[in-house]
Amino acid sequence: MTTERRDVLHSWCVQADWDAPTIVGGEGAYFIDSAGRRYLDMSSLAECMNLGHQHPRIVRAIRDQAEKLCFVTAAWGAEPRAALARRLLELSGFAGGRVFFSLGGADANEHAVKFARQARGLPQGRVVARDRSYHGASYATMALSGDTRTQTQVDAASFGVVRVPPPYAYRCPFGTEHAADCAEAAVQAVAAAIDGEANEAVVAVLMEPNAGTNGIVAPANFWPRLREETRTRSVYLIADEVMSGFGRCGEWFAWQRYGEAGRPDLMTLAKGLTGAHMPLGAVVLSAEVAGRLEHEMLYTGLTYCGHPLACAAGIAALAAYEEGGLIERSKRLGAALYERLLELKTRHAVIGDVRGGDGLFAVIELVRDRATRAVHAPWPMTSLPLRTLVARALEAGVSLAVRGNLILLAPPLVIAERDLTDAVDLLDRLLAESDWS
Ligand SMILES: Cc1ncc(COP(=O)(O)O)c(C=O)c1O
Repeated sequence: MTTERRDVLHSWCVQADWDAPTIVGGEGAYFIDSAGRRYLDMSSLAECMNLGHQHPRIVRAIRDQAEKLCFVTAAWGAEPRAALARRLLELSGFAGGRVFFSLGGADANEHAVKFARQARGLPQGRVVARDRSYHGASYATMALSGDTRTQTQVDAASFGVVRVPPPYAYRCPFGTEHAADCAEAAVQAVAAAIDGEANEAVVAVLMEPNAGTNGIVAPANFWPRLREETRTRSVYLIADEVMSGFGRCGEWFAWQRYGEAGRPDLMTLAKGLTGAHMPLGAVVLSAEVAGRLEHEMLYTGLTYCGHPLACAAGIAALAAYEEGGLIERSKRLGAALYERLLELKTRHAVIGDVRGGDGLFAVIELVRDRATRAVHAPWPMTSLPLRTLVARALEAGVSLAVRGNLILLAPPLVIAERDLTDAVDLLDRLLAESDWS
């Protein structure tokens, strides 16, 4: 037994069950354990290692920065902080906006809500979010997330959060038949939630524009329609791009798929921002929102806001995406992966739905019965056959992520095409060999 198993309180698991190998290194889409075993990472760990493991350019940037300046607070300037903010504003086209740096996704979302409230002059204004979403595990982000695992821990209303059903077309909560209708109904639910609150009390809508770890991929009409309805009502739209950003959905930021028609007022980033080589999150504010804060006191901060080592990693990460043409690559390989999965669906009755494919992110939803869409295990539980499939994939050297009855495929954008093909071949074989009865 390792000391880690005994001494560390691990997240999202039963402590007594935690028994994982120790990882000592990695390269590209592979990570390596202390016994020298290599694992093909088909989920970029927590959908965060978009650039693969131990990216040499990022490692070098962290080392170089460490030799110059490890840390200075936000009360002082720091070159990498300035340079990363500039680059993020350029890539997102938020000219005249500003960037606030956090340590990860949850605190980025919390701060986006703070900024929206302050900009509207309603420090406790309401925020609309959706069921079955994930925005983090701090108290405020648990309130924002409609996550069955944590919803009993927090009273969302006391955090000013109003939640609406999601655009989950395969099991549409509005009972529609077609994906576009489900998305439209979900947008109307947001509009009704805003209109139902008295005295223009809703300041913002915070949602994932495309993919999320909840496995819902919003139909294509959802985000631009949501933008329209929020704009009409002068309610800020906050895009949680923590997972969908940095190529995961085939664009730098998923909303860019719709051009200006998808532009949010604020967006939150983390994960792929440094390819997870350093903990870093960010809130990007439009010029309009930033302008409203310009001459007001900002009563918030984090000791490590814009940490130079993390920002240096971020600058190197952005350069690595660009030089490798990785955003385009993700779009191309993601489309091919999606086609492959649709083909698997024609042969495996256990596959109920395949979603994603805008970039290297796809969800396979498994069902016991295609006609009724009955599940093997109630959400968010994972059935024994699916857990067994994951264990067998790991034995074959492939690490897969699952949530409930969903298999989430989100490999590093640098994955070799041969490795991607082999991983899907393995999945094909394991789906056929598993006992789903
Ligand atoms: C869409 C989304 N938002 C927010 C978060 C929270 O980020 P963090 O774990 O860095 O706090 C996650 C993490 O999985 C996420 O997927």
